[in-house]
Amino acid sequence: MLNLSTLHKLLSQVLEPPHLHTAVLLTPEGQLVSYATGPARSKDSVRVVVGLSAEVWQEAGEQGIAFIDSELGRILILPVEETAANGIVEASPESGASERSHDKPLMLVALNSTDVIEWDDLEAKTTSRNRPDPHALLKPELDLLRDRLLNLLGSAHPTLTEIAKYYFLHPSKQLRPLLVLLFSSATNGLGAHWEQKKWAAECEGARGRAEELDQPLSRPDVLNDWNPSMPDHTTSFASVFSLVPPTARVRPPARPLAPAHPPTLAAPALLLPTQLRLAQIVEMIHVASLLHDDVIDDANLRRGVASAPAVFGNKLTILAGDFLLGRASAALSRLGDSEVVELIASVITNLVEGEILQLNKVSQESGALVDARVGRESWNVYLKKTYLKTASLMAKGARAAVVLGGSRQGEVWKEVAYAYGRNLGIAFQLVDDILDYEAGEATLGKPGGADLRLGLATGPALYAWEEHPEMGQLIARKFENAGDVELARDLVRRSSGVERTRELAIAHASKARELLEHLPDSDAKTALEVLTERVVERTW
Ligand code: FPP
Ligand code: MG
Repeated sequence: MLNLSTLHKLLSQVLEPPHLHTAVLLTPEGQLVSYATGPARSKDSVRVVVGLSAEVWQEAGEQGIAFIDSELGRILILPVEETAANGIVEASPESGASERSHDKPLMLVALNSTDVIEWDDLEAKTTSRNRPDPHALLKPELDLLRDRLLNLLGSAHPTLTEIAKYYFLHPSKQLRPLLVLLFSSATNGLGAHWEQKKWAAECEGARGRAEELDQPLSRPDVLNDWNPSMPDHTTSFASVFSLVPPTARVRPPARPLAPAHPPTLAAPALLLPTQLRLAQIVEMIHVASLLHDDVIDDANLRRGVASAPAVFGNKLTILAGDFLLGRASAALSRLGDSEVVELIASVITNLVEGEILQLNKVSQESGALVDARVGRESWNVYLKKTYLKTASLMAKGARAAVVLGGSRQGEVWKEVAYAYGRNLGIAFQLVDDILDYEAGEATLGKPGGADLRLGLATGPALYAWEEHPEMGQLIARKFENAGDVELARDLVRRSSGVERTRELAIAHASKARELLEHLPDSDAKTALEVLTERVVERTW
């Protein structure tokens, strides 16, 4: 039998539900395969559409789509491929529908589509069903990364280990590791030093193999990095420390000269152990920043469960964040690439700068008169903070992945990675700032409306300020007076603040997508394209 929920799902990918009330699936001859309709609709209206269908097929013909105005409203017709993947199975003979297979696609007729859709937009939306899902594409790698990451977090102190692991145990979409892996996959093979990097990943002693990334560079009793999951550690403080005779350095094998090669993607797609480790490192830094952030924001909830400070207290939470940073730094140094160390270390400072900017921002504005200059300055600070707090880790993480794949200075690949990550990250945060106004705890896994309560004026409020000058006073006093938060929400609601913030997010996401044109075609590139849509629609 036709799966009606699949039909509904298909429709909702084409248009937003309020604009549609009925979907029917027809053969090219106009026979009803099945239909789905809202409870308020009678079957009569469906029959009328069936009656129309054979004629409108002709019009749908060449372009594959037609809009018809009738007494029932606007009708959208769209051909649908009958594939096992979309779950559309023919109705049984008892249902009165046709049983034969179709050489032409089935027709999906959506009734009362009040919005006109451009063909290109529609095509982009419908073809997205056949494109790789970014998370699904790398799910096995992401799952493995998360499991193995826990091995990096052991310590001599069980409570410290428990807090450090706490946020990793609750599901997140691992957007930052995903970006690292997708950019690795979309560019490996292109960089001038790729062959050397690949060789190091395969050759014992060249420090690029997965096992070597777990081995300390310094002697264990110097590092004193006690981790029960790692092979070497030391715990002995029983006596005074004597001079340990130096051991001879193991000479690494000679590195072959990189053969000149035209830039071609590695086939089959290959992820280097260093890139997989980098994906873990960026997630560790992200989680470290969340541990600190939940203390600063006095947050009780994260990812739908009690926050780390709510469970373990502020002091231990801060220390666990620092511990994660330490472990991430050691793992970073073992990647053996100083450009990558520099990039990722600078992300840590960016995160702190972003947080400080957020704390300072409002006090700088305190008492300021509302004028164009103040407004402009607020936008500059807001976007800068957005980059530092959110986009920097995505941009530099993606760039570092490409560096680890052997991209040299002067090659475009790492520039694409950085620019993409920067735009995507800003779009992501802008949408996050919208969701803080629009979504509730069930969707966010944390209370909505938190920004205003924390005194923060994000995109929607800053745009609303342009339309409602009284917002300036509220921003200046950090929404502190009784009723300020409610008034600010109302001003935002009565403004185009949310809409304009979304437009800004779309502009950044579109730019990210455009940048991908520099890369050769691959599944990873398509997944990165899909990500630019998902980040705005937030369909994960
Ligand atoms: C979440 O913001 C927080 C961040 C993206 C970064 C926070 C950075 C620090 C606390 C600086 C310290 C950094 C390190 C690496 C220790 P949010 O509060 O807007 O989002 P939320 O609603 O998810 O909490
Ligand atoms: Mg927070």
